[in-house]
This record gives sequence, C-alpha cells and structure tokens, in this order.
Amino acid sequence: MNAQLEPFHAIAISKQAHALKAEGRSIIHMEFGQPSTGAPQAAIAKAHAVLDAEAMGYWESAPLKERLAQFYQERYGVQVDASQFILTCGASPALVLALSSMFSPSDRIAMARPGYVAYRNTLKALHMQPVEIACGAEVGFQLTAAALAAVEPAPQGVIIASPANPTGTLIQQDELKAIVAVCRERGIRIISDEIYHGLSYVEPAQTILAYEPQALVVSSFSKYFSMAGWRLGWLLAPPGHVERAQAYCGNLFLTAPSLSQHAGLAAFDALDELDGHIKVYRENRRLLLAALPGLGLTTVAPPDGAFYIYASIAHLTDDSLAFCKRLLQDTGIATAPGIDFDPVDGKHFIRFSFAVSTAEIEEAIRRLLPWFAAQPRKV
Ligand SMILES: Cc1ncc(COP(=O)(O)O)c(C=O)c1O
Repeated sequence: MNAQLEPFHAIAISKQAHALKAEGRSIIHMEFGQPSTGAPQAAIAKAHAVLDAEAMGYWESAPLKERLAQFYQERYGVQVDASQFILTCGASPALVLALSSMFSPSDRIAMARPGYVAYRNTLKALHMQPVEIACGAEVGFQLTAAALAAVEPAPQGVIIASPANPTGTLIQQDELKAIVAVCRERGIRIISDEIYHGLSYVEPAQTILAYEPQALVVSSFSKYFSMAGWRLGWLLAPPGHVERAQAYCGNLFLTAPSLSQHAGLAAFDALDELDGHIKVYRENRRLLLAALPGLGLTTVAPPDGAFYIYASIAHLTDDSLAFCKRLLQDTGIATAPGIDFDPVDGKHFIRFSFAVSTAEIEEAIRRLLPWFAAQPRKV
C-alpha cells in the first residue's frame, strides 16, 4: 500500500504569507529554516565563470570531495577519505540514500519527537517504521541514551540531529558517547544529520564520526553555507558501505548539479563571510530570547545552534496551525506550527526561525508584543 504522508503545514503558512504580501501587507518570513542571505560572493563569481565556460554534464567533483575531507580534519580533527563522500542534491536525498542503502522495508528507526518532519515522512515513503521517542523540554527536546535503551524491541536504526530542527538544541558530548554505547550494545545503526553544524552559539557541535566511525552522516550546503536553493549536500558513508550507497545514488539520483559543485568548492574560500552570518543570528537569538517572557512564552529550551526557537503555546491554544494562521493574518509574521514536528504534542508549540535580518527581528518583536498580550488564555 502507498504510504500516506502528511503535508508540511509551514508551506501552507508560507503560501498564505505570499498571498498577503501580494495584497500589499508587510510580511516577516520566520516560517522556514533557510538563511535569508544568498550564497557567498566567491561562490556566485565562480558560478558566473563556469556558466560561460562549461557544458555541465553529469559530474562528480573530485576537488570538492577532497575539500570536504580536509574540512572534516580542520573542523573536527577527524580523518575521513575523499572517497567516502557521495555528493547529493542536498541533505534530503542523502537521507534517502542512507536509509534505503542501509535498512530494509519494515525496519524500525528511532528518532526524537519533536523532530524534522521529513524524517518521519521519508521513513514512511520507504516503508520503514518511525519509532518516535517523546523528548520534552526537560531533556532539551533531545534524544537521550536512556530513552534509546528503553525502546523495545531494539530498533534497527536511529536518526540523531544535533543541533536539531525545530529546537536548535545540541546533544551534549557525553550524552552522544552514551548514545553510541547503547547503539553498539543493541546493534543500532546511527544516521547523524549534521546539517546545522557550523551554526553554534555555545560550544561547536562535534561530528558523530569522532565517536562512531561506522555511522552515516548527512549534511549539506543549505544552512551554514547559505546555499539552500543550489541543492548540494553529501552523504559521508563508512568505507565498507560507500560502494553500495554510491550504486543507490547512481540509480536514484545520478549526480548533484555541476554548477553547484563548482560554487560549493568556491564557498570554502568564503568562510569569513559565512561566519559573519552567525554574528547576525547570534544577535537575533539574543533579542528573541529576551523578548519571549514578555510574550508570555516561558517554556523554551534556548537553542544552542541552528536558527530556531521552539516555544510552548499550550496556555493559549490546542491548535498550533490555526494559531499560526491567525498570527500571520493579524501581524504579518509567518511561523511554523509545532504539528509539523510533533504529531502528538506539536499542537501546543510554535517554531520561530530567526534566520532573517536583525531589523526584521526587531520589527517582529514590536508586532508580537501587543498581539500576544491580547490573546485570551485557554479556558
Ligand atoms: C534537520 C534537517 N535536515 C535536513 C534538511 C534538508 O535540507 P536540504 O535538503 O536543503 O539539504 C533540513 C531542511 O530544513 C533540516 O532542517
């Protein structure tokens, strides 16, 4: 039977936001997790030059894979070989490759709830079974070793994300090591989604490969590199699994866009520019966190990374989608409803993305304060 996938409700909010904008309303887009900055200048310049000079057929950039391997050494002190990288059209196909090449239909794959909507839906599309583990504010909405150890029977796999979407929270290094120990003991394969690495406000995130070389890592140029629409990412597979994953990639997706591969390599010459974006996010995060108590939003886990704040609105509503629609209609501020990330408790949460300009955050706070103050508490 075909898998039934739920829609991504933030897309409906975004559509409504664009319709309001077309009517002349002032809209602040905090619904999607994408940088409002473009690709780094060096990447754009490289793309212009390549467009005029190359035919651009199917291609896998050996220099980009070499540069990625060097990046893992520089950023994490972890040695991987360039041949372990499979270049993809973003982290999304990398996740499909990791899951489809490693697991079988009906396999059970654990993940935190709340979590990125596509984990659950990709698993369903591949006829695997999501095993969602409820993770509340008291554990930073993150998976713990104890929670994973308690899942019976042991799942075949687990997807971890640190920093995570929708919360931006990190799994602390000791906890990560404990998760690895549980996985080894129980024979659980790890997929680590490291797409928000590079966007940290506390300690930098460590790759799972520092603790578990057999894990599969998915990541992309969509967040830290500010190149979401260029559709470029990677699967980093353990040596014994590369050939199999490569065969899946060749058949399912062929190659990543050649233009983006050229531009992605050039982006490594622009790390200072990219680090400049983090300064903006850091200030946005500070402003928004400081404003939340004034909005009456007190149940939050401050984000360690990424560019999200996930806050409880349980005192105001049991319907986060209707709440986000009303918020947009009244204030022009687009947000994502918690039900996108958590089908059970998400009705009580809202996600703000602060990957916008600081001026937009300041304006958003100006609009949010009177609106939240006017909201009746639930009876
Ligand atoms: C946690 C997480 N993983 C993966 C993705 C997919 O990213 P992309 O396919 O653009 O690389 C996203 C997108 O927002 C995400 O938040």
